[in-house]
Amino acid sequence: MKQKVDQNFFDVDFARQQFAFFKLDQSKQWAFFDNAGGTFACSSVVDKLTYFYQANKVQPYGDNELAAAAGEQMDAGRRVIAELLGVPRETLTIGPSTTQNFNTLSIACMGFLKMGDEIIVSEQDHESNIGAWERVAQQTGATLHFWRVNAKDGELELAQFEKLLNKRTKIVCVTHSSNIIGTVNPIQEITRLGHSFGAKVVIDGVSYAPHCWPDLSSLEADAYCFSTYKTYGTHLGIMYIAPDFMDQLAPQCHFFNAENPWARLDAAGPDHASIAALAGLGDFFQTLYDHHFGYSDKRLNLKVSEISNIMNQHELSLCKILIKALNQLPVRIIGKASIKGREANISLVSATHSSSLLASSLAKKGVAAKNGHFYAYRVLKALGIDTNDGVLRLSFAHYNTKDDTMRLIDALTSILG
Ligand SMILES: Cc1ncc(COP(=O)(O)O)c(C=O)c1O
Repeated sequence: MKQKVDQNFFDVDFARQQFAFFKLDQSKQWAFFDNAGGTFACSSVVDKLTYFYQANKVQPYGDNELAAAAGEQMDAGRRVIAELLGVPRETLTIGPSTTQNFNTLSIACMGFLKMGDEIIVSEQDHESNIGAWERVAQQTGATLHFWRVNAKDGELELAQFEKLLNKRTKIVCVTHSSNIIGTVNPIQEITRLGHSFGAKVVIDGVSYAPHCWPDLSSLEADAYCFSTYKTYGTHLGIMYIAPDFMDQLAPQCHFFNAENPWARLDAAGPDHASIAALAGLGDFFQTLYDHHFGYSDKRLNLKVSEISNIMNQHELSLCKILIKALNQLPVRIIGKASIKGREANISLVSATHSSSLLASSLAKKGVAAKNGHFYAYRVLKALGIDTNDGVLRLSFAHYNTKDDTMRLIDALTSILG
């Protein structure tokens, strides 16, 4: 049995060995900082994906062994995601993306929304958790209210939220952390306040989950969505729906599947192999856990919470070095200029260089980062940032190293210094 190591130490070299990408020569050319766009997939996921396509790419479930094995692999993918999240399998809908999941969820709410009802969306959110609700409000006659950000720094203030809440509020939509601002929002407080007025609370965890695996039991959200192509997996969206919320939602599937809670909001299942491959995420977290903490018979969701915590600490320690360097450069950091209460995902603008020039100049120096509004269009507008050029976004994953960070800082310094 492996000895317990210093629990604050994250073995990034070991983590990188879990990704085929870092074994390729081309990986050495890049310090990769577009992780908020999508992370690399870990090898245990890629192996399961390849195996499914090679061995069992048939219509799943059935008497023949090929079909039965395909179904078993898909069941394993669903089961493992549920175990990682510590929730019953039936509470999870797997869709092609979070945008699609929010869209389906909002349409499924149309049955109980009527004229006079109110929906609150945050201005900090990605368009996927705003536009869908805006369309549904237009069609049902419900009123859409924006929880506006502070125009100085893009932060959400609870006092503003409380002013919007009332007995007519039926749905509250907010992000766990914005893909631009990076502050971790007080979701427990938001759900508590929303519930005290009888509203359902829908959380976008897409930006948060890659940095820190969500603890759904503590958040008490009615719906929580994230995308596995940003958490080292295949390109899918996971949507948790609390059972009493699911009971209120109009099925979006074939009528004869409507009694299956996990199929209720699944009009057409996404890529079967990608669902099966999600089981590889369990192996990935388990391997990292065993390496750092040794064998344990704890439940998988408790293990992922512990390992994810030191992955997050590792990212934040690198992000701290970056922020310190940015403070010496002529740039404006959007959101908090410290790591306290934020995720390792920094957006910035410069007075001297466009964001697009920064991104292209960095690429020439072997640093991958992008510019744009990243579909968080409304918050950029509120901050008075040109939505065409947008921000330069520098986002970490646990597999980034100090060396990557220094390459990024050196490159930025030579471009801007
Ligand atoms: C914060 C946030 N929410 C939602 C989405 C949409 O996710 P998907 O691409 O799975 O539709 C994204 C995508 O970048 C995002 O960053």
